[in-house]
Amino acid sequence: MRQVRLVIVGFGVVGQGLAELLVTQRHLLQTQYDLSVTLVGVATGRGGYLYREQGLDIPTLLNLARRGGPLTVDALNTDVQHWPHALDGLRESHADILAEATGTNLRDGEPGLSHVRLALTQGMHVITANKGPIALASTELFALARAHNVQLRVEATVMAGTPVISTICEGMAGSSVRAIRGILNGTTNYILSEMAQGRDYSEVLSIAQAQGYAEADPTADVEGYDAVAKLLILASTVFGQILRPEQVARYGITAITREDVARAQQEGKRIKLIASLRYDGQTVQARVEPVSLPFFDPLATIDGVMNAITVETVALPQVTIVGPGAGRLQTGQGLLADLIAVARASS
Ligand SMILES: NC(=O)c1ccc[n+]([C@@H]2O[C@H](COP(=O)([O-])OP(=O)(O)OC[C@H]3O[C@@H](n4cnc5c(N)ncnc54)[C@H](OP(=O)(O)O)[C@@H]3O)[C@@H](O)[C@H]2O)c1
Repeated sequence: MRQVRLVIVGFGVVGQGLAELLVTQRHLLQTQYDLSVTLVGVATGRGGYLYREQGLDIPTLLNLARRGGPLTVDALNTDVQHWPHALDGLRESHADILAEATGTNLRDGEPGLSHVRLALTQGMHVITANKGPIALASTELFALARAHNVQLRVEATVMAGTPVISTICEGMAGSSVRAIRGILNGTTNYILSEMAQGRDYSEVLSIAQAQGYAEADPTADVEGYDAVAKLLILASTVFGQILRPEQVARYGITAITREDVARAQQEGKRIKLIASLRYDGQTVQARVEPVSLPFFDPLATIDGVMNAITVETVALPQVTIVGPGAGRLQTGQGLLADLIAVARASS
């Protein structure tokens, strides 16, 4: 059986989701994929990096994290090694794969960028849900991965565990992708869907914040920055085109009124925040903007926090993928699929 030693850096919603799947899917991993995964390291911002050569007990880690307790040597009460910072732990311990799941930072990609850079340099494969490092430094990071003969997989950065990047890059390989249009942000889609029921933007935003669909500071979602980050990742992984954030025409949904939404409905249309890439064979045009879509458009009827993406290729005129774009297990699944792909390719 293939043995994989895994480290999870960032043990919040997504890191815990992956850890939970390692427990619930353990039998499947062994029987179907001939794969045994040992979680040897876990890091958080407050608790630092914990490492145990023989493996950490995942249920204990999950219990501690869910109770809000610290992930510390004392709390784990075993022969665990500790470093105050993940970078030191990564440098001085040994593992095969880093799962990077710290918070997305679209200004400089940190702290995830340094974690990913160090792991690749040390010859570790990296799987990540963190958009920052890939949106801002994909050229450097994929080159580092190639130079060290390891894999960098980023499925969970776009539409969580709904397989978009692997479907386009692997499943649709050779089909000459011409355009991608997507609803890539669940928060804004929830807000626009509720506004279609006759509510005001500010009223719906408050409900979304109360229900946990929107952050206290919703800027990254409602102004389109989150969708821009996902477009940068798709431009790089699908088209090999490196775009800077300012090269994406970006309009959020804050200026959309209840009247705009009602007028669109009367015209047989739905307003959606559409992230799009159009490729002419040489360059990519990228836009994030509210668009009035006719009801028959496959993206027009995607409501609530659901995400969707439509891919146009020469051979396949229109393929639409619909699925969750966030969530603990939904995003953990994206990391798990990448982990299995890494193990398969390196065996
Ligand atoms: N949540 C989703 O549904 C979803 C979906 C797709 C992609 N993502 C992406 O996945 C990533 C994780 O999201 P999340 O929702 O799990 O975030 P989260 O719940 O806020 O968890 C972030 C984790 O990172 C840790 N962390 C922060 N700074 C660190 C550092 N310097 N070293 C080590 N650990 C550090 C935090 O520890 P402390 O709490 O101790 O600071 C926490 O455990 C983000 O980049 C997000 O954009 C999330």
